[in-house]
Amino acid sequence: MSQQPTRRRFINWFLGTSLGAMAASVLYPVSRYISPPDIPEAATDRVVAARDGELKPNAGKIFRFGSLPGLLVRSADGSYKAFSATCTHLNCTVQYRDDTRQIWCACHNGTYDLTGKNLSGPPPRPLEEYTVNVANGEVVVSRT
Ligand code: FES
Repeated sequence: MSQQPTRRRFINWFLGTSLGAMAASVLYPVSRYISPPDIPEAATDRVVAARDGELKPNAGKIFRFGSLPGLLVRSADGSYKAFSATCTHLNCTVQYRDDTRQIWCACHNGTYDLTGKNLSGPPPRPLEEYTVNVANGEVVVSRT
């Protein structure tokens, strides 16, 4: 039997490699979605949230704590508090309101006090509170 290329062999080869390429182009993204790469910053336990003096009293600031938002609050007395900024209701990002001196979630009007305790609205649990230390002109937030 002759080994010369024929139209049928060429079409079989072409369709075989095309189907293989198409399968690879579908399966590779699916496999990356199912098994995403490790994100080193997701395990962050300590970050510099602000420079000391950056926040005036009775003000708040959102900062990145690993892959999640954190909320740094400077109370009216000048002390710092830090919390997870992820609302315990449906994961919206909370913010500090200087007029009410509370932490507020705009999504469903949930409120928390400056200990992180849920006060009103739908949030079912307090916010996670973090430890704050001021050293060398930096406000450092860490998990307790
Ligand atoms: S997500 Fe915050 S109150 Fe609903």
